[in-house]
Amino acid sequence: MRRGGAGSRVLGSGSALPRRIVTNDELAARIDTSDEWIVERTGIRQRYIAGEGETTASLATDAARAALADAGIEASEIDLIVLATATPDNTFPATATKVQHALGCHGGIAFDVAAVCSGFLYALTVADAMLGAGQGTRALVIGAETFSRILDWEDRTTCVLFGDGAGAIVLGAGEADTPAREGRPGLLASRLHADGSCHDLLYVDGGPSTTQTVGHLRMKGPEVFRHAVVNLSSVLGEVLEDAGVSVEAIDWVVPHQANKRILDATARKLGIPPEKVIVTVDEHANTSAASVPLAFDTARRDGRIGTGDLVMFEAMGGGFTWGAALVRM
Ligand code: UT7
Repeated sequence: MRRGGAGSRVLGSGSALPRRIVTNDELAARIDTSDEWIVERTGIRQRYIAGEGETTASLATDAARAALADAGIEASEIDLIVLATATPDNTFPATATKVQHALGCHGGIAFDVAAVCSGFLYALTVADAMLGAGQGTRALVIGAETFSRILDWEDRTTCVLFGDGAGAIVLGAGEADTPAREGRPGLLASRLHADGSCHDLLYVDGGPSTTQTVGHLRMKGPEVFRHAVVNLSSVLGEVLEDAGVSVEAIDWVVPHQANKRILDATARKLGIPPEKVIVTVDEHANTSAASVPLAFDTARRDGRIGTGDLVMFEAMGGGFTWGAALVRM
């Protein structure tokens, strides 16, 4: 999709993290790694890991409540919940329906989107299109994960990279006859892509229809890294062109937080100054579908992202899937 449906607007955001922080040194005490290696190769210093009673649905519900409070909207006003996750509470029903019930919303639409680390971009684009098509006026778009539960904790090449968390935004339908152009707030453009031939570079080695197990995450990191920089730079260029906006006009880039070196290399390739890039990978590690909305909420709450700002979201993950979206706040 090249343009936002009718330019739905961000009305609020929220996020949630598990109680427990796990530092690099704590991991180094258990497996053959070091704080020095992890920081130098990834920028990660710590991650949050879900404990007893904390699940994808519980984190998503907390993030959604915070987003509703920020938007000043009651749960009963939500018509649509689109939740991006690769670590649902159950194989079915959709985790979005659990969140819907926990929030006390009734009768609207609720479903999950599976696009792994690009899940939030997919969910945002789908929700915007549905609001634009008249399927409601208020949506919750959530990215929530408990990746700690699909990690192989003996595999140092993957287990140090990920964390758990959730982020959410409330979207309000735009006016169909006044698209979000010329300084008006709203989703200006979004682009999504997928290339299923890259399945084996980043996947989970289990599932209900294959092994009847949940499985563990497997990744060929350096190959994913190379694809990430190329794909992200290219999709950012496409979105800027669709929106008719120059790269200099972007106020903030909110990237998927996989690796500080990917963030730096992508920004360098496009000529985006590092001070415009929101970085939370040091604190949260890679939280997959949660990472973009978590970083976005962090930067809104600390006052960096404000009204009128032009914000670029981008992400790439398993599949491969990747995408970007440009939003005026
Ligand atoms: O969210 C979806 C998208 N995911 C990503 O974007 C991840 C993309 N990939 C990456 O971020 C990086 O490729 C990694 C962080 C996964 C790996 O960094 P790298 O610089 O590409 O390292 P490497 O895999 O080439 O490994 C270099 C060395 C190897 O040792 P040898 O063969 O040179 O002796 C690894 O065995 O580092 C070793 N190594 C580690 N050493 C200490 C790998 N993991 C660790 C570790 N601690 N945790």
